[in-house]
Amino acid sequence: MHDTAPLSDAVDAATHIPAGVYAETVTEVQHYTDRLFRFRIIRPAAFRFRSGEFVMIGLPNAERPVYRAYSIASPSWDEEIEFFSIKVPGGPLTEHLQRIRVGDTVLMRKKPTGTLVLDALLPGKRVYMFSTGTGIAPFASLVRDPETYEKFDEVILTHTCREVAELEYGVELVRKLMDDELVGDLARAQLRHYPTVTREPYPVMGRTTELMASGKLFANLGVPPIGPQDDRGMICGSMAMLRDTREALEGYGLIEGSNAQPGSFVVERAFVD
Ligand code: A2P
Repeated sequence: MHDTAPLSDAVDAATHIPAGVYAETVTEVQHYTDRLFRFRIIRPAAFRFRSGEFVMIGLPNAERPVYRAYSIASPSWDEEIEFFSIKVPGGPLTEHLQRIRVGDTVLMRKKPTGTLVLDALLPGKRVYMFSTGTGIAPFASLVRDPETYEKFDEVILTHTCREVAELEYGVELVRKLMDDELVGDLARAQLRHYPTVTREPYPVMGRTTELMASGKLFANLGVPPIGPQDDRGMICGSMAMLRDTREALEGYGLIEGSNAQPGSFVVERAFVD
């Protein structure tokens, strides 16, 4: 999870909304499991972001709202903004956020940021997007961005969850994407979805770190093992998953990049507690 800087913006006397914050209306809420839901808000006309970035989200339910980092899950051309969230029992934000309904207001700080962006990666042949749980959110944005397909011939989206029901967001995303007017043709030709489950029976079982170490992931996808020449990586999940996946990619000779110095893989954290 990202640090939450104290909110120091001046508050508008009429609306009580701080100057650096948008207050936007919720347009859709969908619950997947007792741990996961997604919601959409109206996109402020002036708001711009790069696919893969995150923003700080809060609720107007307190004098000093609690803000948490949320990856934007919608593409940069969309008229709404989508978020995919975990529900943490007793969590300072998600305890309340999970109860939002269409028509409610969500606060969003105006400045997006993040390292899971195409600009932070050197050109390559194939990009792997490694995700667990809600870590799929920034990739839901990136796989809907035509630029991703311009930069890489092949896009491999891995999503690992404990249970089958937790994969639903990604399954739905990819199904809709294949029929999408703007990027459907690109996705059908270049995107591979690799869902895996760790605590229930499923066609592919196990963590991606284990599936790479055993070679099963590469065999399943019919690709050579990862190498620094052709392959690029983007990682989003829990702290332990980030650490282990980073180690695996470094073991294949990939080097971490940033906005200032593009490299062969990038890492982000999108965990909310
Ligand atoms: P597992 O069931 O073996 O712990 P969580 O909800 O705890 O963040 O886990 C989401 C998914 O990420 C689970 O399938 C979990 O597998 C997997 N996972 C947890 N830790 C790691 C890790 N260090 N490396 C790769 N995958 C992980």
